[in-house]
Amino acid sequence: MSKSHTLLAKVIHWTFIILYAYGIFKQVDDLEDLEDKGLLIFEVVFATFFLLIVIVRYFYMRRFKTFLGAREPVHIVHYYFAKTVHRSMYLCLILLPLTGLMIAGLYTQGYKDEDELVISLVLATHEFTALLSYILIATHVSAAIYSRLKGEGVWSSMVPVFNNEKTTTNKIITKISTLEHNIYDRVEVLFSSKKE
Ligand code: HEM
Ligand code: HEM
Repeated sequence: MSKSHTLLAKVIHWTFIILYAYGIFKQVDDLEDLEDKGLLIFEVVFATFFLLIVIVRYFYMRRFKTFLGAREPVHIVHYYFAKTVHRSMYLCLILLPLTGLMIAGLYTQGYKDEDELVISLVLATHEFTALLSYILIATHVSAAIYSRLKGEGVWSSMVPVFNNEKTTTNKIITKISTLEHNIYDRVEVLFSSKKE
């Protein structure tokens, strides 16, 4: 039997997506829009709430192993790849509201010109973090779907649908999976030979 994430972990994972999507879709279009005091206050309250949820989530999820649901032992390199993507997602989810709050702070201090060095650097970080979060989440979702195709058990530990998972017997997927393992082996050799 493979392990499953707790109900609370699943609730946090799936409800957080609504919060993230809302944050992305309601985004401020322009620095000048912050002239609207109501919008500015709303953004600050939203970003603070978002930041708190991400921090609480991180500390709650830390206790669980990556690939909790995997039925077979996971390659060490695969494990580190996944951990890196998860940690980078958290970093983006913290930097997004944090840089947003910095923009709000600078704006109220009179930094209202986008061409000024300080605010332009914070705006660029805010925008870059948003872009990086799209890339990381797309990678994460693709990896989850690929894992479901392989039938490793990881999908079912978090996703409430399509979870009658069995190890695949599909020749193409098995071939890709073998290739994937060869790459992990090579990366492992590369890193272990560097240490010697
Ligand atoms: C349809 C979309 C998604 C699917 C199928 C999916 C699937 C999964 C699965 C199977 C896991 C468990 C991995 C493990 O046990 O190691 C997981 C964990 C995780 N997911 Fe997703 N996910 C989706 C969308 C998202 C989105 C949009 C975010 C970010 C906003 C996200 C952030 C995370 C994080 C950070 C983890 C690590 C565990 C944690 O700390 O909560 N996921 N996801
Ligand atoms: C969790 C909170 C937040 C999220 C998820 C978020 C997300 C985004 C996204 C996705 C963009 C578009 C970036 C791009 O062009 O690629 C953006 C732009 C922007 N955000 Fe945020 N934001 C948040 C908080 C804030 C806060 C608190 C402020 C300031 C009060 C703010 C001010 C801005 C401004 C001024 C822009 C426009 C930048 C430009 O001129 O192009 N954001 N935000």
